[in-house]
Amino acid sequence: MTAAHRGLSVLPAAGWADGIADALAARIGSHPDFVVCLPTGSTPRPVYERLPSALSRAGAAMGRATVVLLDEYLGLPAGHPVRCDDQLRRQVIEPLPEPPATFLAFDVDGPDPVAACAAYDAAIERAGGLDLVVLGLGTNGHVGMNEPGTAPDAPTRVIELAPSTMAAARTYGADPPPERGVTLGLAGILAAREIWLLVSGDRKAPILREVLEGPVTTDVPASLLRGHPGLRIIADDAALPG
Ligand code: PGA
Repeated sequence: MTAAHRGLSVLPAAGWADGIADALAARIGSHPDFVVCLPTGSTPRPVYERLPSALSRAGAAMGRATVVLLDEYLGLPAGHPVRCDDQLRRQVIEPLPEPPATFLAFDVDGPDPVAACAAYDAAIERAGGLDLVVLGLGTNGHVGMNEPGTAPDAPTRVIELAPSTMAAARTYGADPPPERGVTLGLAGILAAREIWLLVSGDRKAPILREVLEGPVTTDVPASLLRGHPGLRIIADDAALPG
């Protein structure tokens, strides 16, 4: 595989997170009202660790930006350390010298998660739509909690988690893991102006190969991003050997 794949950048593993943090800081610097949807998980964590210093180097700040959470588990109490809103608050928001103007998270503590999903899309629209969605890549090809079988027009919704997603939640510290979640739908992801798919580590190599070279199929939801004109797949050289 080569960087000849459209939208693909490959960075050495040692500089991968720095490169992405700098790119994010540059975007925010040139567009202070940036609306960015961010994921949780192990992939973006080193990027988030580097974000405050990257912003400082770029002379940029997030005080006018909107941060939107990509997905959330259902059934974990508020404040649970595996909750996605809690992770993003700890890893992104709190280390910033200036918090974003808005942090949009799902209302999963209320009685009606379905209504919370509709309210979420409306809130994103009121914010002006997503400038950028940053995504990790599940080993089963999911993005957000859009599991295999998801159609490209899938809305923001409640979903049953795939076994591998539940297993991942257990490794993050939720035991027993949640069985359901809410996620920005593929339709919402594809409506963003830009999409950055972050991929690191050799355990992602087989699924990244499928995303780049396999068929565009609902079996591998990330493959459905390939037609998006603003897609960047930013992989490290461990995820993209050879
Ligand atoms: P990871 O998860 O970043 O922890 O590998 C990615 C995902 O499952 O979406």
